[in-house]
Amino acid sequence: MKLREMTKSDLDTIAVMEKELFKEPWTKEDFQREFDENEFANYWVAEIDGEIAGYFGLWILFDQAQITTIGTSKKYQRQHVASAMMQQIEKMCIDNECEFLSLEVRISNLPAQNLYKKFGLDIVSVRKNYYSDHEDAYLMVKAVGGYV
Ligand SMILES: CC(C)(COP(=O)(O)OP(=O)(O)OC[C@H]1O[C@@H](n2cnc3c(N)ncnc32)[C@H](O)[C@@H]1OP(=O)(O)O)[C@@H](O)C(=O)NCCC(=O)NCCS
Repeated sequence: MKLREMTKSDLDTIAVMEKELFKEPWTKEDFQREFDENEFANYWVAEIDGEIAGYFGLWILFDQAQITTIGTSKKYQRQHVASAMMQQIEKMCIDNECEFLSLEVRISNLPAQNLYKKFGLDIVSVRKNYYSDHEDAYLMVKAVGGYV
């Protein structure tokens, strides 16, 4: 498995994967906007044999890092692709001296919650009606050290 930064030429594939993986998929244009307008955004892919198996987004806002998305295509799920991406996320947090890593996750999304718990994130609060279908989100957070 190889981890590398996402490029705009990946976005057609990513948009197809979004539809496979998410109830409210981002469009190619949503990702394009992140590339063009968000200086805090970092998008990476995990490749297996040249095929994109997974991807994630991480906003690094000074001492705070936030996972905006993470997904593994169904074909490659339960083969530790997301775990490899979480390790990369942790490395990026440490390299950037972030104090906290956080994310929102649907309260029904137990696979993702298990993944995050495995990497030390805890549920700290509920965000009511967070999604457009009115499902609540858990806010999950981990202290990652900051400047030492
Ligand atoms: C959540 C997701 C990213 C996990 O990806 P993955 O590559 O299959 O995850 P890994 O193989 O690295 O699994 C790591 C851990 O996550 C948990 N996990 C992953 N899939 C799980 C499942 N279907 N059921 C329960 N726990 C699961 C387990 O704790 C697992 O550890 P283990 O292998 O020691 O049991 C993947 O299921 C996915 O893309 N889901 C759809 C998109 C999504 O919901 N993203 C998160 C948005 S907040």
